[in-house]
Amino acid sequence: MATHKLLLLPGDGIGPEIMVEVKKIIAWLNARGKDTFETDEGLVGGAAYDAHGLAISEEDMAKAMSADAVIFGAVGGPKWDDVPYEVRPEAGLLRLRKDMELFANLRPAICYPALADASSLKPDVIEGLDILIVRELTGGVYFGEPKEIIDLGNGQKRGIDTQVYDTYEIERISKVAFELARTRGNKVCSMEKRNVMKSGVLWNQVVTETHKNGYQDVKLDHMLADAGGMQLVRWPKQFDVIVTDNLFGDMLSDVAAMLTGSLGMLPSASLGAPDPKTGRRKAMYEPVHGSAPDIAGTGAANPIAMIASFAMALRYSFELIEEADLVEKAISSTLDKGLRTRDIAAEGDKVVSTAEMGDAILAELDALTA
Ligand code: NAD
Ligand code: IPM
Ligand code: MN
Repeated sequence: MATHKLLLLPGDGIGPEIMVEVKKIIAWLNARGKDTFETDEGLVGGAAYDAHGLAISEEDMAKAMSADAVIFGAVGGPKWDDVPYEVRPEAGLLRLRKDMELFANLRPAICYPALADASSLKPDVIEGLDILIVRELTGGVYFGEPKEIIDLGNGQKRGIDTQVYDTYEIERISKVAFELARTRGNKVCSMEKRNVMKSGVLWNQVVTETHKNGYQDVKLDHMLADAGGMQLVRWPKQFDVIVTDNLFGDMLSDVAAMLTGSLGMLPSASLGAPDPKTGRRKAMYEPVHGSAPDIAGTGAANPIAMIASFAMALRYSFELIEEADLVEKAISSTLDKGLRTRDIAAEGDKVVSTAEMGDAILAELDALTA
C-alpha cells in the first residue's frame, strides 16, 4: 500500500468550491484502504496575493516541487484586476507550470453519452467524441522574451510578446503526442501557422522529423491552426490526438470544451519529464476552466472537470488505473441518471448544486463497488 503526497491549491472563485468535491473523493479512496493520499493545502492566485502580496509564496512553491502531484482549482477574478502584472493571480499558475517544467498539457475532450444534447452542435457531430489535445505548456509566446510594454516617447507605446520555440521543446511534446496516440486511435494532427510564423515552420519540420525517427506507425497530419479551429467545430470526430503550441492549445481546448457541453466538463493533466533516476514525473492536475467569477459563491459550479482532473492524477501519477476508471464511470453514470449542474442543463432539467453533483458521484462510487 503506497502513500501519495498531494498538494491542494484551491485558488480563487469557484476553485475552493470544486476542490471540496475532490476532497470527498480523496476521503472515499482513503476509506477504501488501498493506496492512501496525504493532503496538504496551499494558497495560489488572488488568495495568495491577499495573504502574502505574491501569486504563490516560496513556501507553497517548495511544497509543489516536492509533492507527488499538485491538484489545482482555478485562479483569477475582477478583485485583482489592478494588481501589478508580476503578481496577478495567473502568474502563480504560470510559475507552477514553468518551475515544475510541466511541458505537456493533456486536455481530453470526450462527449459523455448523456450529454450529446448539451453541446451547441448537432448530436451526430459530437456523439462518441473522444479527442485529446496535447498542448505545449512551458514555451511559446507565454514565456518568450522580450515581453514588455515600451514607451516610444511620442505618445505611443509598444506591447511586445515573443513566440519562441527551440527544437528540443517541439521534439519532446511531439513524442508525448505520438506515444499517447499509440494507446488510442493512432493518429496525430499537428497544428501551427507555418504560413506566417517562423516558429510554425520549425514546429512543422521538427514534428515531421520526430515522426520519421521512430513513430512512423502513427498516422501524422498537419493543419494550419486557424483551419484546425474550424475543423474542430465542423467535424471534430476526424481527430484523435492534436498536438499544438501553448497559445493555440489554450484557444483550441476552450473550443473543444464546448463540444462536450461546457467548460465545466474539461479536465487536464500537466506533466513534466520522467526523472531519469526515479521515473517519477512532476505533475499538476487542473480543470481547463477558470475561476468563473460570474457564478462563484452561488453553488452553480460544475465540479466534474475538477473531479475528472483528479481521475487523471490517479491514472498518470499513481497508475491507479482501476480507480481512475471507477471515478470516470461514476461521473458517466451520474450524468446517465439525469443529474445536471446549470451549465449542462437543458430546458426542463432539474438543476443540482456543486455539492449535490459531488455527492451523487460519491453515491455512484459506492454503488459501483458495492
Ligand atoms: P472562466 O473559465 O472562468 O469562465 C468562462 C465561462 O464558463 C463563465 O461563464 C463561467 O461561469 C463558465 N464556467 C467555467 N467553469 C465552470 C464550471 N466549472 N461550471 C460551470 N460554469 C463554468 O473564464 P473567464 O471568465 O474568461 O476567466 C475568469 C478568470 O479565470 C480570469 O481571471 C482568468 O484569467 C482566469 N482563468 C483561470 C484559469 C485557471 O486557473 N486555470 C483558466 C482560465 C481562466
Ligand atoms: C488555461 C488558462 C491559463 C492559460 C491562464 C489562466 C494563465 O486560460 O489554463 O487554459 O492561458 O494557460
Ligand atoms: Mn485557457
